[in-house]
Amino acid sequence: MSMPEDPDSPDRRRKYSLTSPPQVSQTAKDQADVLLHPVRENEIPELAGIYMKAYKGMEEYGEASTDQALLYLQRLNRFCSKGIFKTMVNGRTAGFIVCDPHWYEPGQRKVLEIHELVVDPDYQGYGLGSLLMRFAYSMGRKYGRSVVSLWAGEGNNRAIGWYTRKYGFKPDRKHGVWIHFQTRIEPWKNQ
Ligand SMILES: CC(C)(COP(=O)(O)OP(=O)(O)OC[C@H]1O[C@@H](n2cnc3c(N)ncnc32)[C@H](O)[C@@H]1OP(=O)(O)O)[C@@H](O)C(=O)NCCC(=O)NCCS
Repeated sequence: MSMPEDPDSPDRRRKYSLTSPPQVSQTAKDQADVLLHPVRENEIPELAGIYMKAYKGMEEYGEASTDQALLYLQRLNRFCSKGIFKTMVNGRTAGFIVCDPHWYEPGQRKVLEIHELVVDPDYQGYGLGSLLMRFAYSMGRKYGRSVVSLWAGEGNNRAIGWYTRKYGFKPDRKHGVWIHFQTRIEPWKNQ
């Protein structure tokens, strides 16, 4: 059966309902159209702009300029072009995720690695990060992975709090200013 968030479902464009995101016209029911779909190469420059905006104040963990962010995201896209998806709210790009279901963790079976997860600050706190995270979990399940992992900058308290408290990620190692986190991907019925 093709689940609602299955990344390999024939129809990859999905519609979600989001309550009251900012700067979008409100419908009678106060809902917005939220889509999740794969990113094409020519859409990456737009993502680089959102990336720079989201990492403002955390430059230590981001890229030095929009050009550098573009190069970084283009490089990620070359490595895992099938794992880069963006979310749109009423036609505007609001965030994206880059994930790789074929990632080898030392001493482990393959895991679903999240290389990048970004929500435009104007749209943060409305559930879009969770939507992208659930999508990553779905992709992990699709490929039979039982673990999702990622790196976060040690001072990125907002994201770390979000990963650890909301999703149960646990730190397992550190490299410089980067902390590696993992959590288990539970079966469908539990999430
Ligand atoms: C981290 C990030 C992706 C989260 O995206 P978001 O869209 O703001 O997250 P959501 O709106 O889905 O999360 C809101 C939920 O998380 C909960 N939450 C937020 N911060 C939390 C925290 N520190 N502890 C526990 N729960 C938290 C909220 O209560 C809410 O829960 P609910 O859905 O049950 O109501 C976003 O802040 C971001 O893009 N940050 C900048 C880039 C970045 O740091 N990326 C991560 C790189 S490692």
